[in-house]
Amino acid sequence: MQLVVHARKLYTPVGNKVKKGSQMSQIERYENVFICVEDGRIVDLSDRRPSIIRGRFLQVDLVVPGFVDCHTHIPFYGYRESDFLRRVSGLSYSQIHNSGGGIYESVRRLRKASISELVRFNLNFTNSFISKGVTTIECKTGYGLDEENELKQLEVLNVLKKISPIEIVATFMGAHAVPENSNPQDYVEYLTKMFDLLKTKCSFVDIFCDVGVFDKHSAERYLRAAKKKGFKVRIHANELSNIGAVKLAVELEAVSADHLLKVDDEDIRVLAQSNTIAVLMPTTSFYLNENYAPARELIDKGVAVALASDFNPGSSPVLEPTLMMNIAVKFLKMSPCEILTACTLNSACVLGLADRLGTVEIGKDADFVIYEDADLETIMYFVGITPRYTVKRGQIFEN
Ligand code: NIG
Ligand code: FE
Repeated sequence: MQLVVHARKLYTPVGNKVKKGSQMSQIERYENVFICVEDGRIVDLSDRRPSIIRGRFLQVDLVVPGFVDCHTHIPFYGYRESDFLRRVSGLSYSQIHNSGGGIYESVRRLRKASISELVRFNLNFTNSFISKGVTTIECKTGYGLDEENELKQLEVLNVLKKISPIEIVATFMGAHAVPENSNPQDYVEYLTKMFDLLKTKCSFVDIFCDVGVFDKHSAERYLRAAKKKGFKVRIHANELSNIGAVKLAVELEAVSADHLLKVDDEDIRVLAQSNTIAVLMPTTSFYLNENYAPARELIDKGVAVALASDFNPGSSPVLEPTLMMNIAVKFLKMSPCEILTACTLNSACVLGLADRLGTVEIGKDADFVIYEDADLETIMYFVGITPRYTVKRGQIFEN
């Protein structure tokens, strides 16, 4: 064995299928287990010490699967402190956006930045994610809003994939906002012409379908065109208002509908009957001082829920998975086991990676997080608790 971890406790969901509703609380609990790793993969889980250990041996307390963050807005350039202070003084996210701030502010900054400046700035974030136990992240374009700058973001992600230990899944989100000199219909037509160029660079396409951004009709055109070209689709849905984006996500068999702050009973019913995963991002509600997604109702009615950071410079400049989990306990009323499933297996399912990621099981990648003096609940109670080690494909990162 190249790495053996003797864990006092190992908590993990099992399998490679998404957990819906009450299945989300089904967690396997091992005590006193040896996790054996070879060539970056888990080859054995046993209650007996292997006879030969050639590499590292770690004696640890708690192991959980590496966290998968299935919704971030990396890469971006620079921060938006002024948005934050304007919101505190009473302006809304939409008012700031409509006056040319918000996403547009980040677009101006990103367009001016070079690839190397963007790589340097965002590498700090990917390294922080690793140190906090996040071994895989999804990253979106959407601060370019034209072909040159959207492709520049994908190029930055390519460089980050090579130089950062974190695993990155790229999503094209040219439809993050309507450029100031355009309208939703024309801009969507422009974006769909880029799809052929994108085929080798990413497999997901996302859109912000909401008031003041993309209407349902434009979103449907764009996503149907994306599906035709073989992309999997996702929607920023029902974040600011309900214009029917969740129902559209289900109709189009989107892999996920993300945000879901403003949903009605019918949205919940159709989601529960679908394969679309609800991606909830509690730190966005916290940061914008908005309501929380009705996670309890979603889960109780049989929906599959994943949790993500939405890490971005406007609505969620929060790089702390334990804060997200803490809010999920307190305000989304999720149980620690549900939260673990939502941050690991269900998030891996959103990204189509659950055959390799999301659980600690024989045959999967050796992606896990190790804590000392902790239990599952400790991670959600102690905001900012630092893992002792993060293991990505068998490689150990020590804090
Ligand atoms: O998910 N909703 C749209 N996009 C982000 C915010 C991006 C930004 O404000 O820069 C979100 O909240
Ligand atoms: Fe987002």
